Amino acid sequence: MGAFAGSAALLCQVLRSDVSVITLTMNNSCNLRCPHCYLQFAQEDKFVAPWVVETIAESDAEAVAIVGMEPLLNRDSARKLASIVEAVKSRDKKVGVITNGLNAHLLSRETAALVDWVDVSVDGTRETYGSIRGAPVRKLERGIETLDRLGVRQINVLHTLHAGNLSQLGDLADFGRDLATGQVVLSPFCATRHEGSQPRDLDITSGALLQALERSDVDLDDCWIVLDLDWVAEPQLRQQFADRVERQLGGRSIMFRADPAAYGMVRITYDARVMTPRQAMHTGDYRRSRPRTREELSQVLARPAAQLI
Ligand SMILES: C[S@@+](CC[C@H](N)C(=O)[O-])C[C@H]1O[C@@H](n2cnc3c(N)ncnc32)[C@H](O)[C@@H]1O
Ligand code: SF4
Repeated sequence: MGAFAGSAALLCQVLRSDVSVITLTMNNSCNLRCPHCYLQFAQEDKFVAPWVVETIAESDAEAVAIVGMEPLLNRDSARKLASIVEAVKSRDKKVGVITNGLNAHLLSRETAALVDWVDVSVDGTRETYGSIRGAPVRKLERGIETLDRLGVRQINVLHTLHAGNLSQLGDLADFGRDLATGQVVLSPFCATRHEGSQPRDLDITSGALLQALERSDVDLDDCWIVLDLDWVAEPQLRQQFADRVERQLGGRSIMFRADPAAYGMVRITYDARVMTPRQAMHTGDYRRSRPRTREELSQVLARPAAQLI
């Protein structure tokens, strides 16, 4: 899912034992209330602590995908994002930011020059973005223009596909290509356990997704699909599903056959919990004990990511 690490999932194509991509949930507040969002927390506003950022920077991971709820929530959050990007880049890692893009003007020119990519979540067409994400599409377009003007090297678009937008897949791909200077990454909605509310009628089946991908009027050039094969409800259909998706996307597909931790991806939350990408989707289950010191966290990050499963 794009929710795992955004476009950084494209770096996780082989099974491996070390931690290679860390997705960092830097805060737990957002300026939007997207109905499909899995990151719904009941706690007070919090940011990741500097010692956690320093330990991530010193780890052997190759890349860090910074997500929030919203990294560009306000000026304070944008300042903290800048210091995370600096810390990670000072150790020569790749760094990406996953954002709704609406406050792109809060990104400094220095930070924009340092990041390797920015993923902007869109989920709608020019016509439907407003009703799907609850913000004016013009603001999104201005945000993306700002990222481009600030010199961001690669701007990717993320579309989470659900019952409210799947029928417009061709238009989503077209709008994504209009906005992005990089890739358009498609992923299905995943129902999760969390502390808020998520309408159940957003669910789509693997059959419906295949049907949409295989429609002759849908142009998927420059589009990638990222998903967890576990999402396909019927285990006996997973291989056939994967083959058909791969054929349709011309190989531009990342389909995890196990928890993405087995591909070197881990999640660290704003409150320093370390978990696998599958576990991270269920914020209502975030009870796991957390490392309390740099030593404890660096020990966890030095172990094979799959040990977290
Ligand atoms: C949770 S958001 C956080 C970053 C930022 N606020 C944004 O919207 O890009 C990261 C990505 O996860 C996706 N996402 C959220 N809830 C999801 C769910 N239940 N299933 C699949 N993807 C989801 C979002 O659409 C977005 O692309
Ligand atoms: S998907 Fe992103 S923008 Fe939407 S509510 Fe969740 S964190 Fe906020």
